[in-house]
Amino acid sequence: MSLPERVRLVEVGPRDGLQNEQTPIAVADKVRLVDELGEAGLGYIEAGAFVSPKWVPQMAGSAEVFAGIRRRPGVVYAALAPNLKGFEAALAAGVEEVAVFAAASEAFSQKNINCSIAESLERFAPVAEAAARHGVRVRGYVSCVLGCPYDGEVAPEQVASVARELIGMGCYEVSLGDTIGVGTAGATRRLIEAVARDIPRERLAGHFHDTYGQALTNIYASLLEGLAVFDSSVAGLGGCPYARGASGNVATEDVLYLLQGLGIATGVDLDRLIAAGQRICALLGRPNGSRVARARIDR
Ligand code: HMG
Ligand code: MG
Repeated sequence: MSLPERVRLVEVGPRDGLQNEQTPIAVADKVRLVDELGEAGLGYIEAGAFVSPKWVPQMAGSAEVFAGIRRRPGVVYAALAPNLKGFEAALAAGVEEVAVFAAASEAFSQKNINCSIAESLERFAPVAEAAARHGVRVRGYVSCVLGCPYDGEVAPEQVASVARELIGMGCYEVSLGDTIGVGTAGATRRLIEAVARDIPRERLAGHFHDTYGQALTNIYASLLEGLAVFDSSVAGLGGCPYARGASGNVATEDVLYLLQGLGIATGVDLDRLIAAGQRICALLGRPNGSRVARARIDR
């Protein structure tokens, strides 16, 4: 299969990245990060989550973030919404697109959103209906597609079944999440082949965490399988509070460098992206998780 000419990068740093940080981050700093990511040319930014602040305190203040950002024309600013309460809060905050998040493993579903997979799908259906009424697009996630921190192995058919449900309720795209970053290129290709039996590849995205250092390889494997949408996080920030051992998402800078080397367009400016990553890392007092950023800065 030939490689795509263009890839859409879904920047999840302000959400998947910051949700896992121990240091409290001021709304103004989150706003600045989102704005800088938009200025770097990212066309899709997951800027917050309308989840329970008791579960994920780091995402409290998402409404203020949405009120503070300078919306650039053509950029989608999205947020997670696990239920109708979250959707209504997102709508009130002027969110243009929401994401619902299911899991392929029962144990992770319970730990992350306190319900079974079937119950979560029942909760998402009214979110999708309400979103359709308000002209809000819904993206779907499936977590633990290549392994679960509690249940271990996950069958590709189980992922395919949850992804079909999400598409069936109206999600325009399903992002396949390797939440704990255990996947390999071979497992990634087998997974995509199983899911793509029922869902067109144009409607699938890859979401790789880099725990085992396989994320870029898995993205390349996904490109060979015909995927052209990837989630990534500036400076490799990230992790899920309910998945022990889930280290950062693949760094957007590193994905961009891979894609540039393949001649694949993204519209993103690497230097500006690196600057945004450096600034947030300095603020958090943590090293930059992007190998490309570190190489460029140390030069
Ligand atoms: P629950 O406790 O079962 O919910 O949590 P509940 O309906 O029983 O309500 C309990 C309390 O939460 C009530 O408040 C509700 O009002 C409140 P109280 O009466 O006790 O004061 N509540 C809410 N508050 C704000 N926003 C809401 C909301 N809903 C209820 N939307 C719930 C269920 C889903 C809410 C909870 O488990 C939760 O918020 N979980 C979110 C976990 C999360 O955000 N995880 C990280 C994101 S997923 C991820 O990182 C993976 C991904 O990156 C892909 C990958 O890597 O695989 C996407
Ligand atoms: Mg994630």
